[in-house]
Parts: sequence; structure tokens; C-alpha cells
Amino acid sequence: MNRKDEHAALAMDFYQEKSNDFDLIRIVHDRFPEMKVADTTLAVELLNQEFPRPFFINAMTGGSQKTKEYNRQLAEVAKECNLMMATGSVSAALKDPSVADSFTIVRKVNPTGFITSNLGAGTTLDQAQRAVDLLSANALQIHLNVAQELVMPEGDRDFSQWLSKIETIVRHLPVPVIVKEVGFGMSRKMVQQLVDCGVTAIDISGRGGTSFTKIENARRPQQELSYLSDFGQSTPEALLEALEVPQIFDLIASGGIQNAYDIYKSLVLGAKSCGISGKMLHTVIHGGVEAGIQLVQDWSNELRLLMTLTGQKNLKDLRHVPVVFSGSLLEWCINREIDSKKYSMR
Ligand SMILES: Cc1cc2nc3c(=O)[nH]c(=O)nc-3n(C[C@H](O)[C@H](O)[C@H](O)COP(=O)(O)O)c2cc1C
Repeated sequence: MNRKDEHAALAMDFYQEKSNDFDLIRIVHDRFPEMKVADTTLAVELLNQEFPRPFFINAMTGGSQKTKEYNRQLAEVAKECNLMMATGSVSAALKDPSVADSFTIVRKVNPTGFITSNLGAGTTLDQAQRAVDLLSANALQIHLNVAQELVMPEGDRDFSQWLSKIETIVRHLPVPVIVKEVGFGMSRKMVQQLVDCGVTAIDISGRGGTSFTKIENARRPQQELSYLSDFGQSTPEALLEALEVPQIFDLIASGGIQNAYDIYKSLVLGAKSCGISGKMLHTVIHGGVEAGIQLVQDWSNELRLLMTLTGQKNLKDLRHVPVVFSGSLLEWCINREIDSKKYSMR
């Protein structure tokens, strides 16, 4: 089977709504709203652009006929709801132009939408420019996926010069660059290194949803690396790490977002926007474009209710909502010298 098809099939086989570290965040019921639901606005500025909602369709598919159809459906949802959408890694199309249409379908469906192309770290400025040109993309995502590559039987084994290559791309590419993980999170040190390279948008994409170590291990004949299935920082842990970095940058949350409350909690912690992958693919595969659109509308409505519950009209103000951490998330804070009282007593 084509690797992209295999990834999508395994991601859906393993997909399940499950408890994750978002459950370790409790919102303090703390105020009289003194406002109406109609006072809320979901508008957010990201990559110097205004978007009507604080979530988007994150990188997944392309590279085969089947994933072309997924990309078509996802692009229909993105167009209808005015969502930013990232394609999966276009490296397959740069190597083999015969699969380019599985990515360009996204631009064809949505000629004026905000589309993000995607490539792995370790690629050159020339490849980055070609990835952008392929889709007339508005931005480029560069993904970090060391854990995935190492577990992937045919994966990369050379990770030298990632940072210097990222720096070259960020400094010279004419469109904004988002550096993202693929579900293993980041630490404050990694985020600081990216910021020092000039990166201004970072998606910490943490553990809690799709696990690429689990997916790649299932593709190994012996499946001996199952102990890495839960490797990495969860999305809340990685967000708290990133928030320790003093510089200002666009902080994006993804990894295990299953409902509007997860988005709300990510924004309360300090993310500007959230990327949705597994949940959106699952929704579209099982319910088509209509179900995808319905999900976006439902989550938008729910976000307005949640904002009203804690008396916040704007997404920016969500950062003032007090939250209490428990269990392993609190332990993470203690061990990593993150002051949890900054969040619980604000
Ligand atoms: C089928 C599938 C394919 C993916 N392919 C890519 C990819 O090509 N590039 C990338 O940056 N991330 C890729 N991802 C990772 C997602 O963008 C995201 O970081 C990760 O799945 C965690 O989010 P989730 O828990 O909402 O799925 C893929 C995810 C899925 C489910």
C-alpha cells in the first residue's frame, strides 16, 4: 500500500475519543458574565492575518488518489467555513509530479482560501519555495518529526543541520513559516531555539491524539518499538513549556483536540489558534463534507457559550481565566519549574 494511504488508514484504525491531558485542566467558575452570548467574537489574528475562528484543518493528506479525495473534501470544508487549511507534506509531489494533483486539488477547490503547504525539516530553501509555488500557498509549515522517522522502517536517519536550514528558509521565504511537531510536543528549549532562528509561528503539536510512533510501529515487521507509543510532551505540557519563552510569537496548539472545550482550554492557556487533524479526518471520512461543516459550526457555537460561561467577549481575554492543573500535568509543572499558581490564581 502507498505510505500516505497506510498512514491515513492506520491513523483512522487507531482513532478514538479518549481521555488526555486536557482532562487535567479545570476551569475555575469565577465570575458573573455580565454579557450576552451575542457579544462574543471568535475572530483571531494569526500570521498577520485575521481569521474568523480560532481553529483550522492541520496537515494530513495528499500523495495518492485516495488522499486526493480526502484533500478535496477537507478543502470543501475549509472553503465553506473560511478556515485555514494545511496539506500533508508535499515532498512526494516535489519528487514525483504525477501525484501533484493530490495536493493542488486543495487550491482548485478553494482558489482564494488561506492554504498552507507542508514539508519536513531538513529541506532546502529551493524545495521550500517549490512547495509554496505548487499550491500558490499563503504560508509554509515545516514539520519536526524525529520520533516518527526513527520508528518508520524506511525513515530518515540523518537529522543534522535542521536548525540552520529552518533559519535559512524563515529568513528568505516570502511567505510566513509555521514550524510544527507532528504529535510529540516541544520543550521551552526547542521553542527558544526556533525563536532564535527567527521563527514567529510555532505549533507545538503534542501527544494526546494521533500517535505517529504507534502508526509507524504498526508498519514494522516485529512491532518492537511499541514502548514509544506515548513518547513526548502532551499538548497542555508543551503549551506550558512554550509559554515560558519570553519573546512574542504566534503560539498554536494541536494534538488530541477532540471538542470545543479542548480548543477553549488551549486558548485559556495561551494559544492563539488550534490545529485539528485526526478528529476532522475521521468526521469527513464517516460523514462527508456536510459533517465536517457541521462540526465547525457546532464548535464555533460551543466556543461562544464557553466564553460566556467565563465572561470573556474576546479570545485574547481568555488568558485571564483561572485554571487549576492536576495529576501528571501538575507534576510536570513542579518538575519543570513552571509556576502553576500563575494560572490558578490569576
Ligand atoms: C493521516 C495523517 C497524516 C499526517 N501527515 C502529516 C504531514 O504530512 N505533515 C505534518 O506536518 N503533519 C502530519 N500529520 C500530523 C498532524 O498535522 C498533527 O500534528 C497530529 O496528527 C496531531 O494532531 P491530531 O491529534 O489532531 O491528529 C498527519 C496526521 C494524520 C492523522
